[in-house]
Amino acid sequence: MSLLKRLGGGAPPPPPSEPAPKAAPPAPTPVAPPPQAAHPANAAPASAPAASPKVEDTGQPIDQKRMLELSLWCVDRIQASLGNQNELTRSPETEKLLQERFARVYQQAGAHLSGDQVKQLFTMVCDELMGFGPIQQLLNDDSISEVMVNGPYMIYVEQKGKLRLTDVRFANDEHVLKIIDRIIRPLGRRVDRKWPMVDARLPDGSRVNAIIPPCAIDGSTLTIRKFSKNKLKIDDLVRFGSMTAEMAEFLRACVVSRLNIVVAGGTGSGKTTLLNVLSNFIPDDERIVTIEDSAELQLGQDHVVRLESKPAEIDGSGRVQIRDLVINSLRMRPERVVIGECRGGETLDMLQAMNTGHDGSLTTLHANTPRDALARMETMTMMAGMDLPLKVIREQIASAIGIIVQQSRLDDGQRKVTYITEVQGMEGELVVLQDIFKLEIKGKSPEGKIICELKPTGVRPKFTPKLEAHGFKLPPSIFGAEIPGQKRGW
Ligand SMILES: Nc1ncnc2c1ncn2[C@@H]1O[C@H](COP(=O)(O)OP(=O)(O)O)[C@@H](O)[C@H]1O
Ligand SMILES: [Mg+2]
Repeated sequence: MSLLKRLGGGAPPPPPSEPAPKAAPPAPTPVAPPPQAAHPANAAPASAPAASPKVEDTGQPIDQKRMLELSLWCVDRIQASLGNQNELTRSPETEKLLQERFARVYQQAGAHLSGDQVKQLFTMVCDELMGFGPIQQLLNDDSISEVMVNGPYMIYVEQKGKLRLTDVRFANDEHVLKIIDRIIRPLGRRVDRKWPMVDARLPDGSRVNAIIPPCAIDGSTLTIRKFSKNKLKIDDLVRFGSMTAEMAEFLRACVVSRLNIVVAGGTGSGKTTLLNVLSNFIPDDERIVTIEDSAELQLGQDHVVRLESKPAEIDGSGRVQIRDLVINSLRMRPERVVIGECRGGETLDMLQAMNTGHDGSLTTLHANTPRDALARMETMTMMAGMDLPLKVIREQIASAIGIIVQQSRLDDGQRKVTYITEVQGMEGELVVLQDIFKLEIKGKSPEGKIICELKPTGVRPKFTPKLEAHGFKLPPSIFGAEIPGQKRGW
């Protein structure tokens, strides 16, 4: 059943009878939509095959609006000529077929576009018929990492760490719904008024969340976190200044020496990217089990078993959570367990595993400072429902975790490792933390770039003997210790 039907709306009007009327040029004075048109059940079909198609007044330049309505007009004609066969898969044959149909329809339209505009129009038509409509161009752009559709007329992207409003638009809310349906239907998922939100993953690994009215008040909202095909490597992070070469060397030593490591950070700060980099330091001959909500990690090692959680079936049964997978993974003879993100009770199972021989495990969690990461671990451990005293939880954390690596996205969009902090143990009721590396903020350049420096604190970690036992004799200078005889100045 179409999404429109499920939402209680009418089916799109039947295809127009031939001969096709000439495409009247789009009205120069745009027609404002009736106020209730934003509601999907009341909205007009996305692409009414009228002779003079109109899009609402969205404040966009008339050229872009004309192109959009013209493309939708062409799409309707082409679809009608294909017998309303909606599902087209991209292939050279389909493109050839569409090129022929497009040429015919474009002639009927009688539009006078430049060569470049005709090409753009054809791309828009192809994206509408075989891709994800207006946002396809944003998904194709490798410099864009996130696409956010806030209703039909407000589409933001994240590009190079910065949010930016684009001039891309949908025709109306129904058009957005059509694309959401196109995304989730092949995955056997659905969204409707009864359950108006859905999480899904595109075939290329990108993560999608859609939420529609009535819960999304201002129109159907779509958030796509693009899967980066080329995950950043350690050299990239050093080159970008996200960490220093010394920090990279130190982190490699910690991973190889089987310290348990937590990467903390906010949403989009680069946690998964860093976890991926750290996991790639695991020696080749160790068996790795990865556990994720949606598989993002790309490990270079051969001996990797990848596990992914699973949402419930339509009847509500059959959900497999991260926690189930963590418990299961311990029966798989892992030498390393890498958990994409701890969000709840699985934290207790992970800590117990770390404390009972499964050392060298890695995970991420949502926190803004290393101290905050400890508090978060406490809360998440409590979510396991075991009713453990706080002191016991803290002891578990203190004895399990070796270091906390804090990843942050600064206000100017730079992503940095802002702390590498050792978890030293307990003193009374408190967990003792010691920063080994730290970001020092110095000011702001006239262009608004944050000027900062990553520095060792001068303190060597207490676990240095463990690193040495694994063959890492890190020079004291890595930690900022002054070497006698090399001290400059008086
Ligand atoms: N150190 C970095 N420098 C520049 N870009 C980064 C860095 N780390 C991550 N990114 C980019 O930031 C985006 C979000 O990263 P991700 O690791 O998925 O964040 P999180 O897991 O914290 O939500 C991705 O597009 C990624 O390529
Ligand atoms: Mg992540």
